[in-house]
Amino acid sequence: MTPDTQSPDAIDRTEDSSRCVSETILDATCGGRSIWLDENKNREDTLYIDRREEPAGFVDEAVADPPNNPNYEVSPDEVQDYRDLPYPDRTFNLVVFDPPHIIRGDGMKTLTGVMTKKYGALKAETWQSDLRQGFLELFRVLKFGGTLVFKFSDESVDFRTVVDLAPQPPLFGTTVRGGGSSVETRWFVFHKDCSVNTDTEQGGSS
Ligand SMILES: C[S@@+](CC[C@H](N)C(=O)[O-])C[C@H]1O[C@@H](n2cnc3c(N)ncnc32)[C@H](O)[C@@H]1O
Repeated sequence: MTPDTQSPDAIDRTEDSSRCVSETILDATCGGRSIWLDENKNREDTLYIDRREEPAGFVDEAVADPPNNPNYEVSPDEVQDYRDLPYPDRTFNLVVFDPPHIIRGDGMKTLTGVMTKKYGALKAETWQSDLRQGFLELFRVLKFGGTLVFKFSDESVDFRTVVDLAPQPPLFGTTVRGGGSSVETRWFVFHKDCSVNTDTEQGGSS
């Protein structure tokens, strides 16, 4: 299966679709690797992937006012789509999933403002199926007993709606709303247990 509803171009999946990987941690949406502590931005045990590659300074080149993202780059180890990954079932101990949270009509196709340049966008027409497929695929490549850490901001969609797209509910996560801002970022922790729908073990297509 080659989903192409979120991104402008389809993925050429001619390589072996179940190749072996040595890393035990997968960052499925690495972007600028901002969530990682400095000493962990290039871990040998971690595979950093993203749907795109962008050179340093690409945000300021497009949105120069104010010029405050001179070094932001998207430099994944591999360009991959979290909806359709070429890794075997039950590969990783830990998966990090930090998808775009802003909804735009054409998704990742035309990224204009600073926020969408840096963090991408969900496609208005397909974001629910795209995220559901992403969760399924990431649960597929997660080992039983493994952990999936999910990060999201409720700018366009509320947390419950998004978390309900996962094949299993989270164990715990941020539950207290901070004061001030109307938009909040929350983290949720999922644990893959044996009761997960085994359809997700058949290659991620449901
Ligand atoms: C919120 S940003 C991630 C930020 C990153 N965690 C950091 O620390 O800087 C979301 C990222 O998901 C990527 N993305 C969007 N759709 C994707 C897909 N289908 N597969 C993989 N990555 C995708 C975007 O290119 C963007 O870099």
